[in-house]
Amino acid sequence: MSMRLRRLSRAATAGLVAAAALTAAAHSAEAADTLGSAAAGQGRYFGTAVAASHLGEADYTATLDREFSSVTPENEMKWDATEPSRGTFTFTSADRIVDHAQSQGMDVRGHTLVWHSQLPSWVGSLGASDLRTAMKDHINGLMGHYKGEIHSWDVVNEAFQDGGSGARRGSPFQDKLGDGFIEEAFRTARAADPAAKLCYNDYNTDGVNAKSNAVYDMVKDFKSRGVPIDCVGFQSHFNSNSPVPSDYRQNLQRFADLGVDVQITELDIEGSGSAQAADYTKVVEACLAVDRCTGMTVWGVTDKYSWRSGGTPLLFDGTYQEKPAYDAVLSALGGSGDPGDPGEPGEPGDGTASCTATYTRTADWNSGYNGQVTITAGDEPVSAWTVTVTLPAQQSVSSLWNGTPTWSGNVMTVKPSWNGTLAAGASTSFGFTAAKNGSDAAPAVGTCTAS
Ligand code: XIL
Repeated sequence: MSMRLRRLSRAATAGLVAAAALTAAAHSAEAADTLGSAAAGQGRYFGTAVAASHLGEADYTATLDREFSSVTPENEMKWDATEPSRGTFTFTSADRIVDHAQSQGMDVRGHTLVWHSQLPSWVGSLGASDLRTAMKDHINGLMGHYKGEIHSWDVVNEAFQDGGSGARRGSPFQDKLGDGFIEEAFRTARAADPAAKLCYNDYNTDGVNAKSNAVYDMVKDFKSRGVPIDCVGFQSHFNSNSPVPSDYRQNLQRFADLGVDVQITELDIEGSGSAQAADYTKVVEACLAVDRCTGMTVWGVTDKYSWRSGGTPLLFDGTYQEKPAYDAVLSALGGSGDPGDPGEPGEPGDGTASCTATYTRTADWNSGYNGQVTITAGDEPVSAWTVTVTLPAQQSVSSLWNGTPTWSGNVMTVKPSWNGTLAAGASTSFGFTAAKNGSDAAPAVGTCTAS
């Protein structure tokens, strides 16, 4: 499989976008008023599932671009969509989503490589040895095509049964390759794109129960034997039969304690009004309470295109109006919905411009990591900011996005790539990829200077 034409680095992409589109500046200026920027202020991403077929709808794309910092292709990267016949890969629809996300500086979650569903029938008819080869070829085909462009991959999806047994679910992979197929998939994935976080993803694993215990035991075993796994995804499709569990945070935390990140990958909660809003609050608060819960993805932009549209489970209604659930999520993320309210971002005070900078490591692999620095304006609007970051001597930065660095030895001074305006209280962030070269130490972020 050939890789996509080498993409512009995200830094270069951000620069081009900035030059071309004033909306990019508006986006960061309104920072704390959107889901993505409020989540960034908490060191998290806030994503949505996206369908390529809706990208031509202006309201859909405007809402997507304004609110979200990560996207997951809802169906376009699944096996039936990408390798409908053996060895013939089609990426047209998935590429549309990835290109769009990159043009907006959003991260992409890859979903999903090995799953019993949306699997073309040719896969099921292979014998064990051919099936093993086909599984590895599929992983290499997808991950090779998007190498370096995917934040996290759902390597294996839904491999455990519902119910009390904690057993594996029957599938061509399970039935012909046995329990080891998951481990083989993860090892293949690590080699195919070492920069991507590798996730196991499932549903009905959101609380402590027999199914999540079985996943927990698998992750623990993988960690003890050095099988590469970086995160566990919790789909979190909730409704009255499957409500937000009371031990949700506790469950996320016990997985995090195994040394993996946790992500909420397909969140939707059927319902409406304040009850739905309260449930969304519980989920966001649970993620924020767990340091290694690195982000949340809702399973669609608008109720009208939800896979469970009858249950109106999302944050925007069918006409893209913000629902009470939206306000609840934004507020739980520390954002604020109405820039006109006194004391809200955008209300000028009478002091001096100031800012603070905080650092988080957003991705980590053997040889490198991604860092993110979030700049938050004080109670006065900021027209420009400057932050210094001192790297441990061995480390080197290979790319930086949403900011412009100048270097002096191992100190980089970062300024906005474009208009650095921030409303009072608003946040923006820049990110970078660093090579560890033997040092795993964190960089030191200096004072943020505002004017
Ligand atoms: C769903 C999509 O939303 C639908 O459009 C499609 O018809 C079926 O799949 N678990 C997953 C997702 O991992 O891929 C599923 O997405 C929802 C359940």
